[in-house]
Amino acid sequence: MHKHYTGLIERYRDRLPVSANTRIISLNEGNTPMIQLQNIPRILGKDVDIYVKFEGLNPTGSFKDRGMTMAVTKAVEEGSQAIICASTGNTSAAAAAYAARAGIKAFVLIPDGKIALGKLAQTLMYNATIIQINGNFDQGMELVKKVANHAPVTIVNSINPFRLEGQKTAAFEIVDDLGFAPDYHCLPVGNAGNISAYWKGYKEYALDRVCGNRPIMCGYQAAGAAPFLAGHPIENPETIATAIRIGNPQSWDLAWAAQQESGGWFDKFTDADILVAQKMLSQYEGVFCEPASATSLAGAMQDIKSGKIPEGSKIVCTLTGNGIKDPEIAMQQCADSKPVTIDADLDAVKRAILDSL
Ligand code: F0G
Repeated sequence: MHKHYTGLIERYRDRLPVSANTRIISLNEGNTPMIQLQNIPRILGKDVDIYVKFEGLNPTGSFKDRGMTMAVTKAVEEGSQAIICASTGNTSAAAAAYAARAGIKAFVLIPDGKIALGKLAQTLMYNATIIQINGNFDQGMELVKKVANHAPVTIVNSINPFRLEGQKTAAFEIVDDLGFAPDYHCLPVGNAGNISAYWKGYKEYALDRVCGNRPIMCGYQAAGAAPFLAGHPIENPETIATAIRIGNPQSWDLAWAAQQESGGWFDKFTDADILVAQKMLSQYEGVFCEPASATSLAGAMQDIKSGKIPEGSKIVCTLTGNGIKDPEIAMQQCADSKPVTIDADLDAVKRAILDSL
């Protein structure tokens, strides 16, 4: 019997806190592709299987849709008329979209001038109320927590436990797709909700014997925003990967637990490393993710090269968001390969082709 795909809550409803009467707010998120890298392992000269879980292909272009379908579904079930979040751009876009779908209001606090253009554009289109602050994500997060005590709004940041419930389904999909859990799971870490959610998902599946193993969790941060490497929150996070420009992660304890229980590690990468990984994914694999997302591959490549991740390993890297969200960085990355402009003339086209063969 053909079954139309209607999103991750329907698919995994047995493992999620919904009832038969729950009105599900969904945009058919999830079910994202696992793409095996073909060229990068060869370039590395290592015998490894690397899959990318391309979360940039969710309805609003990031993994945040997984948590947001759950958080907004539960907010509506509880009778909430408005949601609020602080965001580096993707959470705000997802909150705005799911609020639009539900017919409720979304308020989003974003750091003025520090979110990627595509994220701002989509959040405006979904008709959220955007409050730009002269401050960073961490300050926005503190304000959201305070204001929620004074106004009838539901917080949909990942401190809302329903967010992690939705996000854990990515681990389920990976196991259901591969038939096993990978040996290593690499992902970028900002506010640290996602690494916590994946670990929860893998643990649940392993406990129920859906898979026999659990992966080693590798959390990679931007060098200028690496509180897990510092061992404490940091004051002024800075990175070109604005999605993970965060100094005081809210899921601090859960992320440490994921690292420790899995036998994994945290590491940090410069903006230059992150941009190299983003460009390599695009030019060698045809996969265009946003800068923050490429931190997972930057980390995997380093640890594969050094042998910390041994040959023969099966590795999954989560690519958290779509490259189209940040056109400004993409144009900067390609500043040396500007398009040529010619006359609309056959000879000129021929010359242009011959010149670049
Ligand atoms: N990658 C992207 C593209 C993100 O947008 C985020 C977080 C992360 C990675 C890190 O995930 O916070 O679960 O550790 N973005 C949040 C936002 C903070 O507001 O959109 P995390």
